[in-house]
Amino acid sequence: MIKTARNYLKIASYLLLLVSLGACADNTSVNNLVVQLDVFKSPTCDCCGKWVSHIDSLGFEATTHHPADLNLVKQKLGIAPQYQSCHTGVSKEGYIFEGHVPADIMQRFLTEKPEGALGLAVPGMPIGSPGMEMGDRYDDYDVLLLKKDGSSEVYERIRPKS
Ligand code: CU
Ligand code: CU
Repeated sequence: MIKTARNYLKIASYLLLLVSLGACADNTSVNNLVVQLDVFKSPTCDCCGKWVSHIDSLGFEATTHHPADLNLVKQKLGIAPQYQSCHTGVSKEGYIFEGHVPADIMQRFLTEKPEGALGLAVPGMPIGSPGMEMGDRYDDYDVLLLKKDGSSEVYERIRPKS
């Protein structure tokens, strides 16, 4: 009788172990969850589509929108004209990713969440940035950290040739 009770205990602790292992696995999958991003772009923009494919392959899941007035979207989000590019990404937390920002830098930004940050921007459309590939041509460009007060600073310098 005692032996049977012991066996039950053994089975119970084994089941508990399985449950806790399961919980661990769940936590891991939560940490690796893809980042949802709403992307506003023009339906005919080719480089926008390529940038969406780039981020989707590196931990993001973009939902694209084609608003009638893209400029109005940027204006409402507080992206000043000098920071603007073709498309605008917005995370669920409200961070903005304007233009051809590399996905790994977006991931770093989302981990760091710098204080007072509005988001990141790559103004214009530098050649060689993700979605703007043109053979072996690579422009130097800066990824800017946009702040809620309207100012900006260089977040990352991209210097492909140096
Ligand atoms: Cu573009
Ligand atoms: Cu674009």
